[in-house]
Order: sequence, then C-alpha cells, then structure tokens
Amino acid sequence: ADIPVITIDGPTASGKGTLADEVAHALGYIVLDSGALYRTAGLAAFHAGVSLDDGPAVAQIAATLDLHFRKGRAILQGEDITDLLREEATGLMASQVAAHPEVRQALHQLQLDFRRLPGLVADGRDMGTAVFPDAPLKVFLTASAQTRAERRYKQLIDKGISANMESLRSDLEARDARDKGRAASPLKPAQDAQLLDNSGQTIEESKALVLEWWQSRQ
Ligand code: C5P
Repeated sequence: ADIPVITIDGPTASGKGTLADEVAHALGYIVLDSGALYRTAGLAAFHAGVSLDDGPAVAQIAATLDLHFRKGRAILQGEDITDLLREEATGLMASQVAAHPEVRQALHQLQLDFRRLPGLVADGRDMGTAVFPDAPLKVFLTASAQTRAERRYKQLIDKGISANMESLRSDLEARDARDKGRAASPLKPAQDAQLLDNSGQTIEESKALVLEWWQSRQ
C-alpha cells in the first residue's frame, strides 16, 4: 500500500482521461482508465446476448474478460474494439452494467492489480471512494455540462465521427444522473478529495495544479 496512487474521479467528459495521462506521463506512472473496463464489460455482455440488467450474468462475463492491449489497440476475444469502446452508446452500456454491485465486485481486484511501482494514476467514478480509499491525493474533477458536451463534440468531430450537440449533452446528463443515483459506489467526491473545476482551464493549468498538490504531499 506504500505504492503511490493519485485518483481522479468525476463526471462524464470532465477531462479525467486526458488529465490522468498527462499527470502519469509527468511522473512516469502507470495509468488505469477504469471506465474502459466497464465499457468492455458492457460490450462483452451485449455481444454475448446477455441482458445488461442481469447483474450476476454480466458479472460472470466481467470476471473472465478476454481483453488485451496490442500496439495501443484494445482486443476483446480477438476483435479490435478500440473505436467501439469510445462510442457514446458504449458509455451508456457501461453505466448500465456499472450499477450492479456484482459487476463492480468482479472488476475490483483487476483494478487493484494496476497498483505497481513506480506509481499509478487511476481515473473513474469511485477510484478515491471505493477502489483506492487510501490514496494520498484524490482529485474530483468537474466542469459544466455545456463545457463537457462541447469537449466531447470536438473530440468526436476531430476523429471524423459525426455528432449532435443536443443529444450528446442529454446522453451525458442521463449517464451522470445514473452514476450519481446508483446505490453501489455512486459518483461523489471522497470526503478528503481536492475539488477542481476545470471549465475555464487549459489542460496545462490543471496538470500543474495536480502536480503541485502531489509535491506538497511528498
Ligand atoms: O469514464 P467513462 O466514460 O469511460 O466510464 C463509462 C461508465 O463506466 C461511466 O458512466 C460509469 O457508469 C462507469 N464507471 C464506473 N466506475 C468507474 C469508471 C466508470 O461506474 N470507476
């Protein structure tokens, strides 16, 4: 447990992934994108024809995910799911399966295994509250719904994927509502989290702040 961990939790499209990558890069740490695990579990269940409402059945699939990474691509049972993984529909499936305590339990140890030297930056919804409650630095990252929808829109357009602002915003609000409202590890700041609203900030500014917090804890 003396392996350093920084947790970054927050709502959809708040910039957690980018911030986690930047901070990890600056410190030479490993990154855990826990959302990708829930997304993969959702996709795997969907492909297996299992109802996303069936917690125990989805958990069984989540516990035996045949997932690996090759040259920056995510491969699930031999199929390249990298692009599919980022789709908004996949995010919605993820938040559906993530509401089941059995599914969260099935992915728990897998997430703990990412805690290796020299250190870890973990992003998600419950990294600071449930998975790494002893993390010395917990960041809760927020941004206004409008800012988040605009960022997600830009990301998709840049990737050549067509998108609609209105439906993006309502999808992310629906997802946040489900993530906050569920009984199992709901989205909320840990009691000892540092709150960071990055609406008017550049990624450089957010990164500098997190690194400053981290230095002050050493
Ligand atoms: O962060 P990302 O958008 O990839 O997460 C997809 C979904 O997975 C979230 O909406 C949430 O329901 C779920 N999730 C979670 N706990 C985490 C990470 C993601 O419940 N630690």
